[in-house]
Amino acid sequence: MIVARSRSELTTALESLRAGSGRLGFVPTMGYLHAGHLSLLDVARERSDVVAVSVFVNPLQFGTSEDLGSYPRDPDRDLALLEERGANLVFLPEVREMYPRGDQIVTVDPGPMGTRLCGAYRPVHFRGVLTVMTKLLSMLEPEVAIVGRKDFQQLVLIERMAADLDLKVEIVGAPIVREQDGLAMSSRNVYLSAEERQEAPALQRGLAAAVALYRTGERGARALLGALQQELAGRPLLRLQYAEVVDVGSLDEVDPVPPGSVIALAAFCGSTRLIDNATLE
Ligand code: PAJ
Repeated sequence: MIVARSRSELTTALESLRAGSGRLGFVPTMGYLHAGHLSLLDVARERSDVVAVSVFVNPLQFGTSEDLGSYPRDPDRDLALLEERGANLVFLPEVREMYPRGDQIVTVDPGPMGTRLCGAYRPVHFRGVLTVMTKLLSMLEPEVAIVGRKDFQQLVLIERMAADLDLKVEIVGAPIVREQDGLAMSSRNVYLSAEERQEAPALQRGLAAAVALYRTGERGARALLGALQQELAGRPLLRLQYAEVVDVGSLDEVDPVPPGSVIALAAFCGSTRLIDNATLE
């Protein structure tokens, strides 16, 4: 496994890895890796010959009041996990390597879909995500990039960016990996206290209740959201920020709810913000 920390090391590594082998699969991450991240490497491996992973906590996608300073980091552990999982290349740049001019004047505008769902509460977030993704995709030029469905709005926006800007990369969504009790794996789960950690799986149970109701034939968005809210009622540690049933193309709310729509939520568990979603089908 080659570890590149600068652009020039990355270029050299890509040249040697690309010589002879075909498709490059790319997994972008912010590190502090868990089984959810590592599952993306397996998807990349199925679809490509060489697997590259980036580990970069991107300041551009954090709002001023968000957790950039305290975001969990452990690059040595990440490198060990990536080596074990068979990554061929890890790009681990410092902030000044990614943003050598200091500020980023030209950025990628996510458009109206970036203001929906999480974007309503994190106004700079998706601009930061799409901008760093564009930079990483330009530097690595992968044939395929793997993005988790856990961050549903992020996946939709990256797919749409690739289509609208004619990027020569295939974006592949990968399934959500969960803890045994249903909680979606997230680097931020380490922020949860023992009590909060016990409450957090109710989010997934709420989504599952909505999916179960959908399968009985219920198509009303309010009833489906009601099933979710019922699961969260009487749990003071969990505070829903939003829950919506949306179309995956436009992110607009749907009612009645056609199959393939997504029920998506963000909730505070104590002071930790968690997101999750499920497809209604
Ligand atoms: P990060 O939160 O580290 O996530 C990296 C990738 O792992 C994303 O595609 C995310 O959807 C996926 N992922 C996280 N938890 C998962 C889970 N439980 N199951 C499946 N996939 C999961 O998302 C980002 O970083 C950043 O915004 C990034 C795209 C790297 C741009 O900075």
